[in-house]
Amino acid sequence: MPEKKKKIYIFDTTLRDGEQSPGASLTPEEKVKIARQLERLNVDVIEAGFPVSSPGEMRAVQMISGAVSGPVICGLARTVPKDMDACRKALETAKRKRLHIFLATSQIHREFKLHKKKAEILKLAVESIRSARKDFKDIEFSPEDAARTERDFLTEVVTRAVEAGATVVNIPDTVGYAIPGEFGDLVALLIKKVPVLGKKVTLSVHCHNDLGLATANSLAAVLAGANQVECTINGIGERAGNASMEEIVMAIDTRQDFMGCATQIKTEEITKTSRLVSHLTGMVVQPNKAIVGRNAFSHESGIHQDGVLKERQTYEIMDPARVGLSGSQIILGKLSGRHAFSERVKKLGYRLSEPDLDRAFERFKKIADQKKYVFDEDIETLIQDEISEIPETWKLDYLKISLETGKPPAATVRLRRNDQVSEAVSQGDGPVDACYKAIEKITQVKATLTHYAIQSVTSGKDALGEVSVKLMLEGREVTGRGASTDIIEASVKAYLFALNKVCAKLFGPGIEPSTV
Ligand code: KIV
Ligand code: ZN
Repeated sequence: MPEKKKKIYIFDTTLRDGEQSPGASLTPEEKVKIARQLERLNVDVIEAGFPVSSPGEMRAVQMISGAVSGPVICGLARTVPKDMDACRKALETAKRKRLHIFLATSQIHREFKLHKKKAEILKLAVESIRSARKDFKDIEFSPEDAARTERDFLTEVVTRAVEAGATVVNIPDTVGYAIPGEFGDLVALLIKKVPVLGKKVTLSVHCHNDLGLATANSLAAVLAGANQVECTINGIGERAGNASMEEIVMAIDTRQDFMGCATQIKTEEITKTSRLVSHLTGMVVQPNKAIVGRNAFSHESGIHQDGVLKERQTYEIMDPARVGLSGSQIILGKLSGRHAFSERVKKLGYRLSEPDLDRAFERFKKIADQKKYVFDEDIETLIQDEISEIPETWKLDYLKISLETGKPPAATVRLRRNDQVSEAVSQGDGPVDACYKAIEKITQVKATLTHYAIQSVTSGKDALGEVSVKLMLEGREVTGRGASTDIIEASVKAYLFALNKVCAKLFGPGIEPSTV
């Protein structure tokens, strides 16, 4: 009988710490979409947000609590009653819930941020855990900046947190300062001093990537006895990000011989989850990113290609299929019918309603007319692009670009709003700028473009281009994206997507119809 491997719990914080990435703001509806995908990925815990921080955040955690039933749903709180009350309210309908309380313990945080002595920190930690026990059975406690906290004080805080009733103790390397051997030693020390850790009380780690060591530190902690890892999809998060889930999971999976443990992640869902998070946050994944980067499984050098063709494992340590890269040999094109399209959509793991499938098929046919082969990546992009829950207040009706040597480009843009059609012509520094100025003339909404990125979904001259933009609108940064074989059209779609989000008031009070 195969020996049973120790289980490592995967705590996903893409929707809380990940969303703290500059500019990665998500609407509550987008958060639910990601949470549902995290459920399919089979994570153990979803940290859905910090409910006290805004009404939108509260709504997102409430919606996720109602929509997702597999993983534990977790809400973050400081050691203050209003934060814990907000979590109680936000998690009311969750089938399984956890409260995550954090309090900084390092000297620098105590002195400069909290202005509190060690004794006060201990008291706050203990009292907040005790009072949370009235409403929560599952309580996680995080001594923030643990990696820079004096070892004896950290041990004392952890001991008292466990005595007070914490069911999970999380050790954050909040500023990504630790080095793997050192972090592993810290985990080993805590287990030695508080032996229930990693057994009756879950011992978690939460590593940031400021020195590029978040994955290495997390794995060192697992080897030393931690049994929960906190991480985000694509490693998104504050500054240089958090430990990347796909890297940790695939390291444990690929090096089972050395790690001697396992997660319950359905690794075949990794690629789809990564693409969804990148698509919705507008945060492009670097091509050479381990596991989910576009180049992670491609071989350029002739010697490598030759080796892989002879025996895949010469240069590939993971089978691409293990992370959900379909590698399908049958590529769809303009002769493919609705049945073939719907079968491929199912194979890619999407369950669409009939009207959504009709819309996606209609878009597929248009794309198939413009490009010879429609790859799986194209289909995924068009599904995510088309099947959006954002109402299309403004819809692109017509677009023309005029280019004349020596003159600035001019754009003619026609937008539809309900039954009304409006047109404007504008010049700009480039064709995209001209389009955005024309949109501004029509909508009368002033937005500042803070970020613009374009990437091709597949290779080839006729590839779909996917544009992501960030706009400052009404004092908040809003992301938008759009895809088309024509990059100017993709740029316009991305802009309108962001604008429509604000019109739909998905972030709370939005642009009133009278001002648009
Ligand atoms: O990095 C950190 O310390 C955190 C805590 C809230 C766990 O995100
Ligand atoms: Zn963090």
